Amino acid sequence: MTAPNPFQDPLRFRRRVPPCAIVIFGANGDLTKRKLIPALYRLAYDRRIPPGFFVVGNSRTAMSDDQFREKMRESLPKFLEDTPFDETLWNDFARNLSYVAGDLNDAACYARIGEKIANSENTLFYLSTQPSHYETVIEQIGAAGLAKGKGNGWRRIVVEKPFGHDLATARQLNAKLHEVFEEDKVYRIDHYLGKETVQNVMAFRFGNGIFEPLWNRRYINHVQITAAESIGVEGRGSYYQEAGALRDMIQNHLLQVMSTIAMEPPAVFEPDVVRDERAKVLRSIRRIKREEVPDYSVAGQYGPARIGTEEVPGFRQEPGVSPDSQTDTYSAVTVFVDNWRWADVPFYIRSGKRLPKRVTDIAIQFNAAPHSPFSTNGEEPLPTVRPNLLILRIQPEEGISLRFLSKQPGEGMQLRPVSMDFNYGTSFGARSPSAYETLLVDVMIGDATLYTRQDMVEASWAAVQPILDYRPEHKADFPNYAAGTWGPKASDEMLAKRGHVWRVP
Ligand SMILES: NC(=O)c1ccc[n+]([C@@H]2O[C@H](COP(=O)([O-])OP(=O)(O)OC[C@H]3O[C@@H](n4cnc5c(N)ncnc54)[C@H](OP(=O)(O)O)[C@@H]3O)[C@@H](O)[C@H]2O)c1
Repeated sequence: MTAPNPFQDPLRFRRRVPPCAIVIFGANGDLTKRKLIPALYRLAYDRRIPPGFFVVGNSRTAMSDDQFREKMRESLPKFLEDTPFDETLWNDFARNLSYVAGDLNDAACYARIGEKIANSENTLFYLSTQPSHYETVIEQIGAAGLAKGKGNGWRRIVVEKPFGHDLATARQLNAKLHEVFEEDKVYRIDHYLGKETVQNVMAFRFGNGIFEPLWNRRYINHVQITAAESIGVEGRGSYYQEAGALRDMIQNHLLQVMSTIAMEPPAVFEPDVVRDERAKVLRSIRRIKREEVPDYSVAGQYGPARIGTEEVPGFRQEPGVSPDSQTDTYSAVTVFVDNWRWADVPFYIRSGKRLPKRVTDIAIQFNAAPHSPFSTNGEEPLPTVRPNLLILRIQPEEGISLRFLSKQPGEGMQLRPVSMDFNYGTSFGARSPSAYETLLVDVMIGDATLYTRQDMVEASWAAVQPILDYRPEHKADFPNYAAGTWGPKASDEMLAKRGHVWRVP
């Protein structure tokens, strides 16, 4: 008998998208032109969406259908990345775009949207407007009777990030959603989970037999997850000021990545089975007390610096940012997953802006060999005992590297770390779909595996809530790192306390 393969799941291989309508709230905004329309166009290019598919855009700006199409057409080539712009395809695609101008607070706007989707069996509502509008839109969809489809058709809703501002507001938003939509109709998007490289973490762990036996506290010393950006806030200072690195990156994207690293193997690759395993990890994160916060987390904010020949402003000098802002442009946290597999293994997670390079990766640091026969007569046993390191690179240069020691050619037994590398681009040579392409297809076929469930989003807020409570009560001495450096000194000290150092990615 062959062993069951958790990835042989019929749902994910039967990815035929049914005819449906997508109603985009906030269609005049940045996300629609930058991500949603390019992803839908690419799916049309790949003939992944069926003929009965159409988009209804909504925002306040008065536009005819043709003006909306023209606006989307103008920006599309800029955001297509690796997809050619094809005029004939665009003309066919654009015929399926229409627009309803109106204010989200106005019931008449929903009546007009209702007319547009009246004959559509299946409809997806996409909340791509400012988060402060989410509850109004949900209420109005319910009041207009748009949450129920015709016959066997479905009505689903995608909620963009941020999902709440803290645990209390996330719970409130969940409660509001559940007044109108059942949980299985709600798709909370976390585009990190749609990235090929994050999905590949599961393939790597559960499709291979050799790593899983090592994947626990006996062999793994600690884990470092880094999401670094070299840019600053790029004109989005007033938005970012309300968010900060902990809310914008760690609470959602990086805790989801961590749960993918730490989860138990699912028995089958089915949405709720996979999500159950992720949720268990998030619920097992050690809840720290408020007074323990400084031991488990560090906040940073970049100050001005000269990088190369460029004078870079500090965060407080960016347009729209208050001169005494306490926003964290850098956060680092130490997370413990209190279960049998991971007890006492630190997961260090950091994210920041204006760091030396743009990189997102996960470094799994294994324990050193228990005894080295190669140590050097009382001298520093330096590279000979460098422990093995497995690096999962999410972006850029997507791939996986395993570092191990090798004998340096020549006399004696000199060891040197070398690396065994897998690179996505060269190994497959094929284009990877963008996260939004993957996730849009998933929601249209009703596969929620890569979407965040209510309990997951609440557990991840609960994990960071003590830090969020602590920070406003303890003013930080910002700025505490210069633009172009790897963050505040306190972050190195947080690791040093446990005998570790941040790796330079
Ligand atoms: N941009 C990104 O790359 C990105 C990435 C990840 C997540 N997100 C999330 O996606 C959502 C949308 O982001 P965004 O950057 O696209 O925001 P945005 O550029 O501010 O777009 C929102 C649009 O909503 C419309 N709007 C505002 N008030 C309205 C009202 N009362 N009634 C009807 N329409 C209204 C506005 O168009 P009018 O002025 O014409 O009404 C505006 O263009 C946010 O939750 C954001 O956090 C964005």
